[in-house]
Amino acid sequence: MVRVLFLHPDLGIGGAERLVVDAALALKERGHQVSFLTNHHDSTHCFKETADGTFPVHVVGDWLPRGLFGRFYAICAYLRMLYAAIYASFFMPQREQVDVVVCDLISVCIPVLRFAPHRPKVLFYCHFPDQLLSSREGLLKRLYRLPINWLEEHTIGLADKVLVNSKFTLRVFQDTFRRLSTVPDVLYPSLHTQYFDQMQKKLEQRSALLDEPVHPRVPLNAFIYLDINRYERKKNHALALHSLRLLGDMLPTTDFKRCRLIIAGGYDTRCMENVEHFAELGQLTEELKLQDHVVLLRSPTDEEKCRLLFAAHCLLYTPENEHFGIVPLEGMYCSKPVVALNSGGPTETVVNTSTGFLCEKTEKSFGGAMHQLFRDEQLRVKMGDQGHKRVQQKFSFQAFADRLNGIIRDLVPISKESSAKKTE
Ligand SMILES: *[C@@H]1O[C@H](CO)[C@@H](O)[C@H](O)[C@H]1NC(C)=O
Repeated sequence: MVRVLFLHPDLGIGGAERLVVDAALALKERGHQVSFLTNHHDSTHCFKETADGTFPVHVVGDWLPRGLFGRFYAICAYLRMLYAAIYASFFMPQREQVDVVVCDLISVCIPVLRFAPHRPKVLFYCHFPDQLLSSREGLLKRLYRLPINWLEEHTIGLADKVLVNSKFTLRVFQDTFRRLSTVPDVLYPSLHTQYFDQMQKKLEQRSALLDEPVHPRVPLNAFIYLDINRYERKKNHALALHSLRLLGDMLPTTDFKRCRLIIAGGYDTRCMENVEHFAELGQLTEELKLQDHVVLLRSPTDEEKCRLLFAAHCLLYTPENEHFGIVPLEGMYCSKPVVALNSGGPTETVVNTSTGFLCEKTEKSFGGAMHQLFRDEQLRVKMGDQGHKRVQQKFSFQAFADRLNGIIRDLVPISKESSAKKTE
């Protein structure tokens, strides 16, 4: 058994959080001892495994500010994480000491962890180079980012092992951190397929799948396009709306009447962009005269999300240069064809014309695929089957757990681990 601590800034709801929770579940399943240390955890806005006692979750440093004067968010996040790393390295009770610390998102904590007296191995999971995520406008902003970017590169280089979430991210990593000799391994995120299987059984028992509409404004005979993603501009939901408008112009009125686009996205009232963008999409819906066809849902629960996935006919995935993107896997596993852009992670998960369509970033291309799928039920069923099989083979939880367990085993060989235990 290896003792593993996950160090993560904010244990809320998002792709990065889903990944670390899955990694924790995988390691726990393989018999390791797993716990979390985080700066923020809200039991009403988190994945349930972090709130139901599956793992011990310890919160430190939440009293530190998230920003100063409405800016300096990056620096504040770094300080908050440093505080957590100092706690983990020097103030954690001895019985809670660990063999491996897994961190992600913020790498500045790595040097602190290397100074810890018990010297845990450090595994860094790079979802994407942080410096490419911040906007680069303005000289001041660039000057402010300069030392931060330098730090990011040099601290990542101190990790014992670096993992990335896709070949796409690996290429970006190598282009960005040119001075690093570290070559990361690709560990694709996985889908917790068991959870979807359980949910499907549960919903079938209640026959909720057939007898109840998923939403009061979605009739039982509706043809549902589902778009799941946070309410952020870069997620490009507007493309789904414009494509739906085009679909409406292509289909006979009676057919279009039963078409619905459901956008379901994580929405956090603390996040200004979520709030603003939700309003923008509502406005765009009106401008395009799609009020009868569009439903915007905020932060659906896991169960609601599953119901939507089972009920949908087709999943739309609109972001460009997405680093990995778990949602297409969810759609494929639920046997839905996926319409995505030919860009980033989806080019590694979706197989064009087999499990969905990889489109150009135009409503003509995107809407064309939506149209074809509306028309051709046989194609939908075939693509759905092929998508389901692909996830089972390449992106199952078991495949992920095997690989991660192997990586942890390489870091902490069994011989090391038993000697560590004797000295306890
Ligand atoms: C996907 O297939 C469609 C239909 O054959 C084709 O028009 C499109 O260019 C393909 N996309 C990519 C990225 O190959």
